[in-house]
Amino acid sequence: MSIEQEQSRTDLLSDEVKAEIDQWVARFPPEGIQSASLQSLMAVQHANGGWVSTELMDAVADYLGIPRVSIYEVATFYSMIETEPVGRHSVSICTNISCMLRGADDLVAHVEKRLGCRRGETTADGRIFLKMEEECLAACRCAPMMQVDHVYYTDLTPERVDEILDALE
Ligand code: FES
Repeated sequence: MSIEQEQSRTDLLSDEVKAEIDQWVARFPPEGIQSASLQSLMAVQHANGGWVSTELMDAVADYLGIPRVSIYEVATFYSMIETEPVGRHSVSICTNISCMLRGADDLVAHVEKRLGCRRGETTADGRIFLKMEEECLAACRCAPMMQVDHVYYTDLTPERVDEILDALE
């Protein structure tokens, strides 16, 4: 069955998500609509509890009018898109060179112990997803750093990390 013959899944997207996608689409020329893929997936992910199912990827592709495989490629390439269910909050501790030299590995060990889960896992209460690994997030000057729900936190210490994580509901 061709993509044209498959049933459109755009009804899986809320009006709010469609409006956000429209805002991103408007930033690109019509022939560059594919450039809105990543932000469209981010909008869907945000509305779907932190991850994007295959059906939702299809919905984004159908809404943008591009091949579904193009969206699968984006969703599986970028580390900020989760394709499996995860905890309510996403925590990524950068372990690349600058952060590593300033104690990132110790921070990871501290967080794993405190949360009772390893990287790549979600806490038993579903509160926090500790991402597997994160490459340099371009905040080396303020290493060590981490992202929580895609917001940067820098110049971290174990005590500061505890404060940040404890505030997550
Ligand atoms: S190495 Fe961690 S932000 Fe660059």
